[in-house]
Amino acid sequence: MKLLVTGGCGFIGSAFVRLALSRGAEVVNLDKLTYAGNPENVADVADDEGYRFVHADIADAEAVAAAVKGVDAIVNFAAESHVDRSILDPTEFINTDVVGTAVLLEAARTAGVGRFVQVSTDEVYGSIPHGAFRETDPISPSSPYSASKAGGDLQVLAWHRTFGLDAVITRGSNTFGPRQYPEKLIPLFVTNALDGLQLPVYGDGMQVRDWIYVDDHCEGIWTAMTLGEAGEVYNVGGGHEEPNMEITRRILALTGRDESLIRHVADRLGHDRRYALDTTRLRSLGWEPQRSFDEAIAATVEWYRDRRAWWEPIKSGEYRRYYEEQYGAR
Ligand code: NAD
Ligand code: TYD
Repeated sequence: MKLLVTGGCGFIGSAFVRLALSRGAEVVNLDKLTYAGNPENVADVADDEGYRFVHADIADAEAVAAAVKGVDAIVNFAAESHVDRSILDPTEFINTDVVGTAVLLEAARTAGVGRFVQVSTDEVYGSIPHGAFRETDPISPSSPYSASKAGGDLQVLAWHRTFGLDAVITRGSNTFGPRQYPEKLIPLFVTNALDGLQLPVYGDGMQVRDWIYVDDHCEGIWTAMTLGEAGEVYNVGGGHEEPNMEITRRILALTGRDESLIRHVADRLGHDRRYALDTTRLRSLGWEPQRSFDEAIAATVEWYRDRRAWWEPIKSGEYRRYYEEQYGAR
């Protein structure tokens, strides 16, 4: 099996590239290498026989048409992925998450690619006070990020209905683990805590997320890719709900810091209060998360503690400008 994986130099995409190669697939990794794309994330497989890297934008129709030649499936991870950046400037979110997805779909249709997997997010459903979202629930995104992802999902469903493209969508919950860019809650708080810096908690910190370890998320995508039904959506949730304040306290405990590092800052605009997913559909295909949250968060903190060489260069340069803009005025 030959896969075109887009965004394979990012956090989840790089874990999926490793998984696919370990299962014997050939992988073409197409990545634009934005601020979030890091060749280091795939350095351990860069010389594998079955691996090839293409430096390109998913919105570049010519580059994409060349890359899809001979592939059996496309797995689209490429996206602008951070809510706070989408609030500062949504432009690239629309270019990549909506237009880029449509360019990939058109290339898949033209080349007759057998399966298209759109890696989406639980955030397209919006916030839910009680219970859990099912795949049949309407989407109601809140942020420019989630609206862009929802736009991508709708393109995928349209290509399936109109052109008969074989496509599935996965909607994953909040993911954590090694190699996550330190703008997201867990890697930001872990690396700040390791350095004795403040942890900026938005609002009251009682927002709830459903956390999943990165390898469990990738296994869910693999299951949907190999066993999922064309035209269907599959929720990929860890089933571990926790308010941000609890996550913050765990990180403080695991890094040996105390609560004096906690700083409550102005809330995020349009902040969703709670996400939760019903994963019955994916579980019916035999998938279930393997790692307990306790074990996975401890291993993740350990990874960042041991890999300063991975995150210290990231937290200088462009990141500093973003950090000042994001947290300076709060
Ligand atoms: P990430 O920001 O770490 O990585 C994104 C990758 O896509 C980077 O390598 C980047 O260079 C690449 N990219 C961005 N724009 C591109 C473009 N125009 N063309 C080609 N490559 C481009 O993201 P992530 O956290 O690994 O998320 C991967 C996917 O999973 C995204 O689609 C995201 O919406 C989805 N998702 C993420 C989470 C999460 O908690 N991180 C949860 C559910 C779903
Ligand atoms: P994040 O990791 O950005 O993921 P998402 O917005 O996709 O859920 O944020 C997770 C939660 O943590 C969310 O409720 C926002 C909150 N948060 C903070 O309180 N402080 C921060 O500095 C960040 C980045 C997030």
